[in-house]
Amino acid sequence: MAFRFSLILHFLLLTFIVFIQAQNVDERDPTIKTMEEHSGYPLHEILSISSFSVDSLNLQKQIDELSSFSDSPAPSVTRILYSENDVLARRFIKNLMAHAGLSVREDAVGNIFGRWKGSEPDLSVVSTGSHIDAIPYSGKYDGVIGVLGAIEAINVLKRYGFKPKRSLEVIMFTSEEPTRYGISCLGSRLLAGSVSLAGALKQTVDNHNISFLDAAKSAGYAKNEDFSNVFLDDRIYSAFVELHIEQGPILENEGCMLFYSFTLPFFTLHIYKCQFTLSLEGVSIGIVTAIAAPASIKVEFGGSGGHAGAVLMPQRNDAGLAAAELALAVEKHVLESRSIDTVGTVGILELHPGAINSIPSKSHVEIDTRDIDEKRRNNVIEKIHESAVEISKRRGVEVLEFKIVNQDPPACSDDSIIKAMESATQVLNLSYKKMISRAYHDSLFMARKAPMGMIFIPCYKGYSHKPEEYAAPEDIANGVKVLALTLANLSNVNVSSQAAFSS
Ligand code: GLV
Ligand code: MN
Ligand code: MN
Repeated sequence: MAFRFSLILHFLLLTFIVFIQAQNVDERDPTIKTMEEHSGYPLHEILSISSFSVDSLNLQKQIDELSSFSDSPAPSVTRILYSENDVLARRFIKNLMAHAGLSVREDAVGNIFGRWKGSEPDLSVVSTGSHIDAIPYSGKYDGVIGVLGAIEAINVLKRYGFKPKRSLEVIMFTSEEPTRYGISCLGSRLLAGSVSLAGALKQTVDNHNISFLDAAKSAGYAKNEDFSNVFLDDRIYSAFVELHIEQGPILENEGCMLFYSFTLPFFTLHIYKCQFTLSLEGVSIGIVTAIAAPASIKVEFGGSGGHAGAVLMPQRNDAGLAAAELALAVEKHVLESRSIDTVGTVGILELHPGAINSIPSKSHVEIDTRDIDEKRRNNVIEKIHESAVEISKRRGVEVLEFKIVNQDPPACSDDSIIKAMESATQVLNLSYKKMISRAYHDSLFMARKAPMGMIFIPCYKGYSHKPEEYAAPEDIANGVKVLALTLANLSNVNVSSQAAFSS
């Protein structure tokens, strides 16, 4: 009786699964038409052959191998600009690009470009890419998916036999993370034409007083010390699309997977083991509509220091306490904005001389604040400045430096790229959600040079910038496929060359 009941239950579940799958297949056709009308490219052929598939095993092997180029022990990854491990990782990427049949070039700061020449090489190029540098004690997926995944997207298209009209290019951007020289998106910021950065890099030193020029030269770059030759011409790219892990909880929380497994005895001779994974209302892909506006600030307080026992409390001018108060003021001003979109972080707080029995005579604070609303973010910066001045007066310390390192505007994805990404997602029958990127990316700057769009995949366990950072192979494969289809589409259509922002 129990056996019969179980059989009926399996039968009902199977019918349900088959019904859902049939529904999904039916939904494909109109989208395929739209995509084909768009691109003039037979996308249903792509999807009907098995060669349009991602080599997930190999891709995961590459992700794991790349993570071994690290200055901290696994599972954490630390890969700092122009370090020995960064140079080895760059070599790894260049080899993969060459192996994929791309022609590789590098610029003066080490942005790496791998181009697949299209049948119309004079047309502006469709580009994709991300970064591989990793902040201290980070994970192995941030940025990496957008570089290794992009090379795999090219491989997917090549295996299929796709021939691009516009050339396709994979870019590995130099130093998206600000770890070593304090400026984020160093490579893409320069590509976007930042004259001030090109100048500043000639005088910039790291915490160990190693100049940017020396570090770049030791890695084989900066030969003629002129960084203005990194700037991109406005006509080079017709589109830029970046694949990245979401780094937040939205896609993970919206996903819901039903895993169904059973064993079916059949005439006692054969045992059928059946497994189904059914995604219910799960969101596999994020389509980014805008990137929040990031800013970073460096503050230095100078006090009088002194002996921790001998100097009595009323006589103190403690630079460390000024920094601590400023950190709390950052939180207060951010919360006062009353918007969930405003965030502020003090990730660096250093005290000098750094001895338990010495009152800090100097302190150094680095503040990161962001918002999707630029005006509101700027208002927070102003209030932080007012607080720094007020705290210094009250505590009798000096504000030795209040430097806004960067105060970038937000960037919007281009409608034409959003459409291409949506079509690709629909053709692949994947669920998607339009969303804002609260993290910044090289796309923030590439949007100044080409219509931009970003594809997010879910990122599990502790989000990102942590060793626990994790992306599932199925999600990575989905992201790579969406990227490949989007690139294929964009390589065959005329895309408006209007950039989202002019620099
Ligand atoms: C990028 O790493 C960011 O901090 O958003
Ligand atoms: Mn990062
Ligand atoms: Mn990143």
